[in-house]
Amino acid sequence: MIATKWLLGITGGIAAYKAPELVRLLKKQGADVRVVLSQGAKAFVTPMTLQAVSGHPVYSELLDPDFEAAMGHIELARWAEGIVIAPLSANRLAALAHGHADDLLTTLCLASTAPIWVVPAMNQQMWHHPATQANITILKDRGAVVIGPGWGEQACGEIGLGRMSEPQDIVNQLFPMYQPMKEQEANLQGLRILISAGPTREAIDPVRYISNRSSGKMGFALAQAAATLGAQVSLISGPVNLASPHGVERIDVMSANEMYNAVMTKAQDADIFISAAAVADFAVEKALSQKIKKAGATGLQLNLVATPDILAKVAALPKPPFCVGFAAETEQPEQYAKKKLQEKHLDLIAVNDVSREDIGFDVNVNELTVLSQHKTFHIPKNTKYQISLKLLQIIRECYDTKNKIKNS
Ligand code: PMT
Repeated sequence: MIATKWLLGITGGIAAYKAPELVRLLKKQGADVRVVLSQGAKAFVTPMTLQAVSGHPVYSELLDPDFEAAMGHIELARWAEGIVIAPLSANRLAALAHGHADDLLTTLCLASTAPIWVVPAMNQQMWHHPATQANITILKDRGAVVIGPGWGEQACGEIGLGRMSEPQDIVNQLFPMYQPMKEQEANLQGLRILISAGPTREAIDPVRYISNRSSGKMGFALAQAAATLGAQVSLISGPVNLASPHGVERIDVMSANEMYNAVMTKAQDADIFISAAAVADFAVEKALSQKIKKAGATGLQLNLVATPDILAKVAALPKPPFCVGFAAETEQPEQYAKKKLQEKHLDLIAVNDVSREDIGFDVNVNELTVLSQHKTFHIPKNTKYQISLKLLQIIRECYDTKNKIKNS
């Protein structure tokens, strides 16, 4: 079923200012969007703005004679093919979890059989509170899909988990299972794709570690896009603060060695391996079991040893999957990437210039140059999800060509 009739619930929180953009992006996917505001939401975003972007009246009153005379709440609940609530505040989350019908939005959720996606946004302490976590678990157990929250600086000045996911990331998660891009539908059907993502953490002692700036967004976008295009996807992730992509098997690891073991276990059965993780090249030779004391020390020397090159080891398997590396470079990107392509015996390598602040690490956009032994492709700057769709198209073409040559 393709859901085109979306009910967007907006609850009270500063992140509500992102809701008009979400409506715009949903409509770009061909969705018909009706908006319901909680009382709290009206303090952050106006019904007029949402009416203008959605092209429909905006609803907020449970007992509204005009509304009941037109499209009443039962009718609206039946009309919706999908419900997304963004942002979802701690208060409305509690009401939903406990089946309250004390405003229009919670009443509609009770009266509807449509699948529900919730996008929480709140102060990080509120998010971590056991009451909130218990409420989220109740919703998940009931089948709701939770998107986010993300990690970062919050409106209140604190830093932590609780930011609302970006509208584009929400749309990417809402649409895969409902509206795969037509021309690419079934593109990756039958393929088993293994993807690594995020950073690794190499322990120094029980409280300190060596890591890097990778957020995991590139690898997670690839996993979501590959699953959308029909592949069976396994995602091996270092420590990140991202929600699992829909329909993807996720395995969490911490260190380069753990990632190596997890990848090698899965690689035997994969058709394609995409190594988007920023794996630490070095780890502390012997992590200390007790916290290193500063007292009196003027310096500290750590003995580092090389970690296994996971990608090179996979490419060296007797029957390797089609291997796609990433190269994070700060100078002469293509020259260094070509060297990695050859030395690691890869089929493709995608290079991003991480000296640029607008693409690469942590941000939602990227720009790639993809190299094979004989060809160069350029994927212009775009969201990591759109970049992933293009990269997967290139991978599919090169994978098919390689198999044709092998079988001829
Ligand atoms: O996670 P994001 O914030 O979204 O950022 C995305 C990204 C910049 C991390 C991603 O696009 C990227 O470039 N990933 C690869 C980063 C990296 O480690 O590049 P490298 O040039 O150091 O390594 C080359 C390749 O070898 C990579 O495919 C890497 O996964 C692999 N490798 C490296 C070291 C190691 N010990 N084992 C490996 O498998």
